Amino acid sequence: MADDTSSAVEPTVYPPSAESTARSVTPATVYDDARSDRLGYWAEQARKLHWDAPFESVLDWSRAPFAKWFADGSINVSYNCLDRHVIAGNGDRVALHWEGEPGDSRSITYAELTAEVKRAANLLTALGVRQGDRVAIYLPLIPEAVVAMLAVARIGAVHSVVFGGFSAESLRARIDDAEAKLVITADGGYRKGRISSLKPAVDAALEGSAGTVEHVLVVHRAWDDGAELAWEHGRDLWWHDEMAQVDADHEARAFEAENPLFILYTSGTTGKPKGILHTSGGYLTQASTTHRQVFDLHPESDVYWCTADIGWITGHSYVVYGPLANGATQVIYEGTPDTPHPGRWWELIQKYGVTIFYTAPTAIRSFMKAGREIPESFDLSSLRILGSVGEPINPEAWRWYRQVIGADTTPIVDTWWQTETGGIMISPLPGITATKPGAAQTPIPGITAAVVDDSGTPLEEGAGLLAITEPWPGMLRGIWGDPDRFVETYWSKFADVEGGPWYFAGDGARLDGDGDIWLLGRVDDVMNVSGHRLSTAEIESSLVDHRWVAEAAVVGASDETTGQAVVAFVIVKKRHRQTATEEGVDELRHHVASQIGAIARPRNIYIVDELPKTRSGKIMRRLLRDLAEGREVGDTTTLADTTVMQVISDSVGGD
Ligand code: WTA
Repeated sequence: MADDTSSAVEPTVYPPSAESTARSVTPATVYDDARSDRLGYWAEQARKLHWDAPFESVLDWSRAPFAKWFADGSINVSYNCLDRHVIAGNGDRVALHWEGEPGDSRSITYAELTAEVKRAANLLTALGVRQGDRVAIYLPLIPEAVVAMLAVARIGAVHSVVFGGFSAESLRARIDDAEAKLVITADGGYRKGRISSLKPAVDAALEGSAGTVEHVLVVHRAWDDGAELAWEHGRDLWWHDEMAQVDADHEARAFEAENPLFILYTSGTTGKPKGILHTSGGYLTQASTTHRQVFDLHPESDVYWCTADIGWITGHSYVVYGPLANGATQVIYEGTPDTPHPGRWWELIQKYGVTIFYTAPTAIRSFMKAGREIPESFDLSSLRILGSVGEPINPEAWRWYRQVIGADTTPIVDTWWQTETGGIMISPLPGITATKPGAAQTPIPGITAAVVDDSGTPLEEGAGLLAITEPWPGMLRGIWGDPDRFVETYWSKFADVEGGPWYFAGDGARLDGDGDIWLLGRVDDVMNVSGHRLSTAEIESSLVDHRWVAEAAVVGASDETTGQAVVAFVIVKKRHRQTATEEGVDELRHHVASQIGAIARPRNIYIVDELPKTRSGKIMRRLLRDLAEGREVGDTTTLADTTVMQVISDSVGGD
């Protein structure tokens, strides 16, 4: 590492500063309040939102694990994020400072954003979108992405945002699974100094799709002449043409609290991504409460920046719904951190006076590598709180983040949560918690978690599995179209514990002697590459889909920058062995990238003659992981053929 911060001389606990305690929006009593009346506490948080019809019922868990929160209340999510701030007199407050990668920018007030969303809601209605219909959104991080999501929410429809880096095939699978009626995309967006096209991928996705899509709305972002785009008349429409034709007025009507808000696909342990379903009132309650408490938000003075793309859950909860429900002013940035220069992020913090900054450990580690001179040449003194999300943050990165970015004064909030949890679950609160580098600390108020052994018995101390022991407002309500998979994946492991079912998170965790939680990474076949979830099974099935490949095994091997990296072991069919040269490996890497998306491209592919299997034929990925991480290979006694690891290790060494 370029910056070596030796842990021997560093504190192991960082108490909150007197200043951060003094300005905390959350009193320290909040934990006790929430513990003594958990449901009452969440009801109180929910009442900070605007309800058209107030709720009486807080939680209905009678059909566990299918939960209902605030079920008899009605609410409009978009109204809560927009109109209500304008009505309160904050229409002139900037909602979004948007920065495009090439350097173009727009600052949009709450009044302006509200007006845009009203038009967009009318447009969607004019295109026949109704409550409950699904709309796929495949956009770069431009203001229209936020407008589109809020417009869909405003009319009670359901969005499914697909990250712009996903391939046409991945997009098609998501469109078809959700039976989307409309796709909202752009001609392209800017990434790494180039235009990365989107509309052509939508065209490719719709070719051979199930045919539910009636229209494609295209935002003009990239090419000025539009010449590069194929256009299907009748189906494809320019966003700006259509927006100019619709009414500016739109009154938000309320929907029941459990009206579906969005589906977001995420990788699981099988090859098929899961459509995680979130609903309205409970989700918005948790997104806004956690955003206020964990980032100690003072909406009148803070400038908040979360670097996530809207294609991920962090972009949903902490770029769109949480911050906007709280009336925050935030920065959103279209491009990559190092374009056109490696200090772009720090330059933006300086430009907008960002006070709260939320990013992923993988980014922090890559900045560490590049050296502290880069951030040190910008004025970062506006920063007050730093957040981390997406993967465990190693203590070295934690300290570097605090010292180099945070002037050794800003609290760091390491926030653990998942697409499924909807909002932050385990995190320090900046004015209250004394933090330890590398620990996510304790569940936030109103959330209960335990570290348990394989049978669900809670541990007093030590390593085990993370379980959530009570339902929470932002929890997923299901997997789209697959209730059995929902029950099986999350609720079957700890179904029979006392007070159960408990939610199985799929993460390992360690409880220390103070009762603080340290996350240890996934315990299932899900990888975490640069904070993005990938499924080993999905990449394996993509490899096997290539005509050369007979068999494939994929593991997540630890990687200094990206946390984990995709490493594949592939058996090539006999007649293609000749072609499996260096070039062949590149072809396979490219194949995975084009089928799933660039984030899934394997770092290494090893062509091998055999894979390590148990007598029952199950691939022992643990042994492959040892090999990929350059460790001595562990216990091989359960292998059907114990010599196989030697054969594999010889061929890997000779690659
Ligand atoms: C991991 C991202 C350790 C974890 C919000 C989880 C973390 C998965 C942390 C969810 C953290 C997320 N410390 N691990 N602070 N935050 N994870 O659905 O393995 O993209 O299960 O949600 O990321 O990833 P997802």
